[in-house]
Amino acid sequence: MSGGTENNRYIVQVFVGALSQHYEALSVEASKQTTSDEIVSCIVERLSLADSPGGSYELAEVIGDSVGQECKERRLGPTESPVALMLLWPKLLHSQQEYYRFYLREKLSDSLWTDSFTMDPQLIRDYFYRFLYQPKDREYPDLCQLPDLNEVVLLDNLRARFIAGHIYTYVGSILIAVNPFKFHPIYNPKYVKLYQNRRLGPELPPHIFAVADAAYHCMLKERRNQCIVISGESGSGKTESTNFLLHHLTALSQKGSHGSGVEQTILSAGPVLEAFGNAKTAHNNNSSRFGKFIQVNYKENGMVHGAVVQKYLLEKSRICSQGRNERNYHVFYYLLAGASDSEKNLLHLQKTEDYSYLSKSGCYILDNVDENYEFSRLKQSMEMVGFTPEKQRRLFAVLSAVLLLGNVEFQPRKLTYHHDEAVGVRNPEVVLLISELLRVKQETLLQALTAKRARASGETLVINYRLPEAIAARDAMAKCLYGALFDWIVLQVNHALLSKKDTLRDHQGNSIGVLDIFGFEDFGLCNSFEQFCINYANEHLQYYFNQHVFKYEQEEYRKEGIRWTDIEFMDNTACLQLIEGKPNGLLCMLDDQCNFPGATNETLLQKFNSVHKENNFYEIPQRREAAFIVRHYAGKVKYQVTEMREKNLDLMRQDIVGVLKNSSMAFVRELVGADPVAVFRWAIVRAFFRGYFAFHEAGRRHRQYRDGNKPSAIQSRYRNHTPNENLISFSPKHNSNISGSSRSSYGYQKQRNINSNESQVGLQ
Ligand SMILES: Nc1ncnc2c1ncn2[C@@H]1O[C@H](COP(=O)(O)OP(=O)(O)OP(=O)(O)O)[C@@H](O)[C@H]1O
Ligand SMILES: [Mg+2]
Repeated sequence: MSGGTENNRYIVQVFVGALSQHYEALSVEASKQTTSDEIVSCIVERLSLADSPGGSYELAEVIGDSVGQECKERRLGPTESPVALMLLWPKLLHSQQEYYRFYLREKLSDSLWTDSFTMDPQLIRDYFYRFLYQPKDREYPDLCQLPDLNEVVLLDNLRARFIAGHIYTYVGSILIAVNPFKFHPIYNPKYVKLYQNRRLGPELPPHIFAVADAAYHCMLKERRNQCIVISGESGSGKTESTNFLLHHLTALSQKGSHGSGVEQTILSAGPVLEAFGNAKTAHNNNSSRFGKFIQVNYKENGMVHGAVVQKYLLEKSRICSQGRNERNYHVFYYLLAGASDSEKNLLHLQKTEDYSYLSKSGCYILDNVDENYEFSRLKQSMEMVGFTPEKQRRLFAVLSAVLLLGNVEFQPRKLTYHHDEAVGVRNPEVVLLISELLRVKQETLLQALTAKRARASGETLVINYRLPEAIAARDAMAKCLYGALFDWIVLQVNHALLSKKDTLRDHQGNSIGVLDIFGFEDFGLCNSFEQFCINYANEHLQYYFNQHVFKYEQEEYRKEGIRWTDIEFMDNTACLQLIEGKPNGLLCMLDDQCNFPGATNETLLQKFNSVHKENNFYEIPQRREAAFIVRHYAGKVKYQVTEMREKNLDLMRQDIVGVLKNSSMAFVRELVGADPVAVFRWAIVRAFFRGYFAFHEAGRRHRQYRDGNKPSAIQSRYRNHTPNENLISFSPKHNSNISGSSRSSYGYQKQRNINSNESQVGLQ
């Protein structure tokens, strides 16, 4: 119930008893003006009762006690307002035994009616007891057990559990985690042991370890690959959950007290990737700025065999600039805080505030984080994943070079032709340090930062940069170096994660994959291409979720001949189509405009607007501005078009790669060796969808398998429970239009122990 003014909408719940085989109660959205008759006709229509013989119904207000011993009821007159009545019901206290309900029944003749009477207790037990007895003073560890299921009750239940210190709640085989933002002592070895071999179930409180356990045992039992999908907005706890899952997935296979090397390597990969790929944002102090899919491979006997990490789309723009209250990647601050004096000397490190790439956002420290300690932890983790101290030194040298690049400044160069706007480097001593760190010739570096070379008719032309081009070349070099370094780290980590003896191709057993991507983001006025890509990936994840939770589940009910009212869900297919459709999807048009001579971000926006202004998922901002709005599943987000084209192209510039390829240090050459010259950034997001389609395919095969093997699984699930919730809302047109439709009931059909090959973890 929500509330206050005359026009507010309320949920009126009406129990229908034996009038429906499927529902115990229906929830009707109504206002104070809605009459009892209107609600009756709406439900009668919904349950197709008008066709039944007799066909005349009324609402009654029932007052019952919690043990079903006594029950009073009163008929509502046709023009009475159920909402007004409901608001008069006393607020229930724990000590109170009475409950108030509306229920629908066939009309009694007036002569039979008395204002209140006592009914046969046996009848009450058999007939009303089920819905009258709905204890309010307990929380349910599985939302499917809620006797009265609607959004308010569901959220109340989650809140009550959270207040009681229970951050996890099941919805069938899905786990909801509500981020506590404080330490709960529920992940120690005692809990690892407790949840071993326990799957999901009512015996133990819901826990992330149980999800890992379910996936592991299902993999062993069915000899099929498993995947765990984690979704939630930025800061909701996906990465933390991934770490707990990996912790348990590696612990499960350990027979002794200490894991073999490979388990430790898997666990050490996390801190390394997080140091280089996570940063503080406005939403999350440890926000993942890349997506990852970690696949843990097991031998047939259930022992960990190795693992593979795939990364998707590192946010490279963060290297050169960050929003207010945001930071660059953690590793820079760790290095500057933790390096010894001799390391500082060797790497030419300066104070954090002296680096332009770190100081512009004005945000340096993270509360409650000792970066000096984090640096030693990082070095230890790097060692565990096979980075020798020598490799670490080289890697830190590249980091130092990236930071120093940001300090390179330009000034106009005095040339013979006064109209030439060529620039030179104002502080060549910085370039000297960079060239030492990267072992490239200072002269070559200076040239690459100030001019580009082009070949025409067999001759090499040197074209001087103007100031903005020089700055762009400098930033492109920093981003290119860091991006290549990150790719190299992932490659090294994968190398260490592969079992020494075997290659992946020889791998005989099965695997469990965990997908942890960057969460949905909305930075208000500052959303750019990065947020567009991130939210597109999340939109796709939501689509996957919808497909599995609603669409396929309902298709199976239908196939098995179960009488079923389709659950309406927020289908986001059209939003995806807006983004990725061909040839007019936003991404397609963006690519076109990147290739079109003379196109600008302005013309890009004009194209977007002219093609999609009628699209329900696209909006043009009311105020004239260089932005467009997309209606995502998680809300509207306004994207600025400034730099969209440039960011989409994200060219790996040949001239810059050329400089690095000339390094006398094999490590730097290796970094840029395999890079393509130009990559459309969102082509990297496409790699994410390769992973996504692998999930999809696994799901399809699983359903095929289940159809062929266990045809009666759902029917037996269905028989055990009765769905009890259906939401109908009044539309202003004739006050009895059914929209909202039934939701959530599917959860009642979920089996306790996972027999799906995809366990899903949803986060707040
Ligand atoms: N189970 C938990 N117990 C205690 N604290 C938690 C838990 N889960 C998350 N947190 C806290 O919330 C913070 C954010 O969580 P996390 O980094 O996992 O979010 P995320 O969903 O991965 O966000 P993003 O999409 O930005 O990467 C963590 O740094 C941690 O402080
Ligand atoms: Mg994360």
